[in-house]
Amino acid sequence: MFTLAHLSDPHLAPLPQPSWLDLIGKRVTGYINWQRKRRFIHDPAVLTALTDDLKRQAPDHIAVTGDIANIALPAEFRRGREWLETLGSSRDVSFVPGNHDIYVAEAGAFAQRQWGAYMADDEGAGGFPYLRRRGKVALIGVNSGAPTAPLLATGWIGTKQLAELSALLTTLKDEDVFRVVMIHHPPVSRAARHKRLLDAPVLLKVLKAHGAELVLHGHDHVHMVNWLAGPNGTRVPAVGVPSASARPGMDKDAAAYHLYTIDGERGAWRVELIARAVTLEGNVVETKRMMLTGDE
Ligand SMILES: [Fe+2]
Repeated sequence: MFTLAHLSDPHLAPLPQPSWLDLIGKRVTGYINWQRKRRFIHDPAVLTALTDDLKRQAPDHIAVTGDIANIALPAEFRRGREWLETLGSSRDVSFVPGNHDIYVAEAGAFAQRQWGAYMADDEGAGGFPYLRRRGKVALIGVNSGAPTAPLLATGWIGTKQLAELSALLTTLKDEDVFRVVMIHHPPVSRAARHKRLLDAPVLLKVLKAHGAELVLHGHDHVHMVNWLAGPNGTRVPAVGVPSASARPGMDKDAAAYHLYTIDGERGAWRVELIARAVTLEGNVVETKRMMLTGDE
């Protein structure tokens, strides 16, 4: 049995003090948004309570699906690395970036420098999609973070990544492995159009053609389970978690993470999902437990 933990969107707070130069361009709207709204939502104490509880569960691996940063200031990447290291080594933690990490054009290089080890394949090579094998689990990291104009939170995978994702899923299909696709943006979302994954229709086609056993995402900051069409009438669960630092009692779901216990073999996987969330009192408790069927 393999235990995989999933958390997302920690949006590390407080925001480092930006310089005026930092605020030229898109970051200024993000900074105003942070000061007006987001700083009241993302609470470092909530995040610590959640990750302390997660570590007590001693999962085999942790998937983090983006948005460590808020407006991609250089200091957010250094702090992000320290935070990733508190979760575990790059062997035990896999990361894919979100739109707040790749907020501006230069942020991709910052992310690679500070977080590269957490987004590398088994040979240590960078680039997306990456493949990491851990026991019977194949973790595939997809990057949907792309710099956009101010006020947009859209995602974009791109043709090259989608083609390589297709190839990976096809190759792995014939192996006895449980394929997990990690991506920041949900493939299916009710969020406003300016927050969605723009090439989601192509991703859905790739999943329909080649399947996957599980898709993990963040971005919408709520618990979500969507059953996507896989090949030959199979279904692929796409599961989203709330922000790992979301204070309870705000308009989105309270901070939570998901634990998956993965057992079985190709064609007969048994997967249980356990959600653990922060309460108003600041404790972390189990809030949901459900079976997710695989590709049987
Ligand atoms: Fe986010």
